[in-house]
Amino acid sequence: MIRPILIHPDPRLKKLCEPVGDITAEIGRLAEDMLETMYDAPGVGLAAPQVGVMRRLIVLDCTKDPAPHRPLVMVNPEITWASEDLSTYEEGCLSIPEQYAEVERPAEVRVRWTALDGSAQEEQFAGLWSTCAQHEIDHLNGRLFIDFLGPLKRQMITRKMEKLKRERARQV
Ligand code: NI
Repeated sequence: MIRPILIHPDPRLKKLCEPVGDITAEIGRLAEDMLETMYDAPGVGLAAPQVGVMRRLIVLDCTKDPAPHRPLVMVNPEITWASEDLSTYEEGCLSIPEQYAEVERPAEVRVRWTALDGSAQEEQFAGLWSTCAQHEIDHLNGRLFIDFLGPLKRQMITRKMEKLKRERARQV
């Protein structure tokens, strides 16, 4: 089921999310819905707070077509190591449609998480996977990519999003 994606500014996008406890059927359904919502958008990552669920769960898939898809579901993801080398990517966000900006982050990170089957996972990511994992984990801590920008740029984007939300509200 495709779930509606919250658009910035929204107080739920600024909050610290709670860890997932037991991986229940409900969490399994949430992960499945989030993947469906992400692929439909289309996007390369989605965090639970973006669909209004304040839990530490993200999904990502940064494979480029025609490579086989690799849908990753990360429950309670944690960055355990970050490289000193930095890299810059032009980032976007499904909660901030059609706005892009360059953000500098560690080029590589190791992430530890729990898979849906309850197993502990740890993997090192580089390139877009690394950027995306960091961006999605930021969402769980109430941080958006525009928080890396200067105040003027951030305000400009926020005003555009307020306008977009007003327009969408009128269309309903
Ligand atoms: Ni995002």
